[in-house]
Amino acid sequence: MALQISDRALAIKPSATLAVAARAFALKAAGKDIVSLAAGEPDFDTPEHIKAAAVRALAEGFTKYTAVEGTPSLKRAVVEKLRCENGLEYAPDQVLVSCGCKHSFYNLVMALLNPGDEAIIPAPYWTSYPDMVALTGAQPVVIDTGIDDHFKMMPAKLAGAITASTRLLVLNSPSNPTGEYYSRAELAGLAEVLLPHPQVVIASDDMYEHILWHREPFANILNACPALYGRTVVLNGVSKAYAMTGWRIGYAAGPKPLIQAMAVLQSQSTSNPTSIAQVAAEVALTGDQSLVRERCRIFKERHDFVHRRLNEMKGVRALPAQGTFYSFPNMQEAIERMADVDDDVGLAERLLEQSEVAVVPGTAFGAPGCVRLSFATSREDLTKALDRLETFFGRR
Ligand SMILES: Cc1ncc(COP(=O)(O)O)c(C=O)c1O
Repeated sequence: MALQISDRALAIKPSATLAVAARAFALKAAGKDIVSLAAGEPDFDTPEHIKAAAVRALAEGFTKYTAVEGTPSLKRAVVEKLRCENGLEYAPDQVLVSCGCKHSFYNLVMALLNPGDEAIIPAPYWTSYPDMVALTGAQPVVIDTGIDDHFKMMPAKLAGAITASTRLLVLNSPSNPTGEYYSRAELAGLAEVLLPHPQVVIASDDMYEHILWHREPFANILNACPALYGRTVVLNGVSKAYAMTGWRIGYAAGPKPLIQAMAVLQSQSTSNPTSIAQVAAEVALTGDQSLVRERCRIFKERHDFVHRRLNEMKGVRALPAQGTFYSFPNMQEAIERMADVDDDVGLAERLLEQSEVAVVPGTAFGAPGCVRLSFATSREDLTKALDRLETFFGRR
């Protein structure tokens, strides 16, 4: 008899970005000269002073369970970070440290949503949001935004999507996959729409806060509208800013009852995040930040290069991003020119087979016709990949 797999597990799909990265890796291992622009992580190494702190913790025997919600000193570091960098005040019991920001978001939807609830997710979205919402039995309500709106949700669209069942709005700025950033004024516009709907919690995913070159300093919706403090959960982590994707440390800060419910869920699933990774994360947050700024400058340089080269290709239209390490060009015109390619998924397959360049199809982010290119890779590999793409598409 076939083993039963739960309806819950069958209702969701594996992460598309991880799947493309795995395929590119397998082809590379088989001897193909694949250049992967699929990675969702910095190519840089974790800074030495952070690694050294973890080695010290290990040598000193800091290898046991910690408090489920994170060590008191890491939580204090998070509280300080949110106060100094973001102008937001939290008590330590309003903070939960988890196994990566993905886990923070998972805890949030599990603690907040019931079957039948609705969660508004603007597209293009980080590929995991709708699946994690679906796992709770709630309904992801996807709002399409177009390239002409710079892939940003306008207040009228948000207003049109809120119903009595709406319990969550997900905001991610700067955005994975578009690199677009909501200015403080744009966030204030969205907040105006949200104020009369107290049943809606806002998840502000600030993961790419430090990889931003917009003329404004970083702001999230709470900076634009402090009145939303009682129903906003700020999500962040050390993965992208400090090149610590493998260490698995993320955190959430928000209203105490919700954070505590998330902590109970965590206590019955993963328990505490890894002890030595917590020590490393604390040093990341409290130590020298100059490397973070330097790496952001390098990402911006690469962005300018990628953006210019993409727009020189036939049928490709890329907007300038404001942050992150992604470009999200629209390739619909190029797709329509090709007799044997129907959509972005087919295009990504062709690019992998023919040009040996791995990109992630926009469909994975709720935006067919686009693809996501990561420039978290060396300038040499970027040049190689873009030369190949130019040969594939032709010059304008
Ligand atoms: C927007 C966004 N949020 C959260 C995460 C998850 O980060 P972590 O690696 O800390 O789980 C990612 C990772 O790709 C992301 O792009």
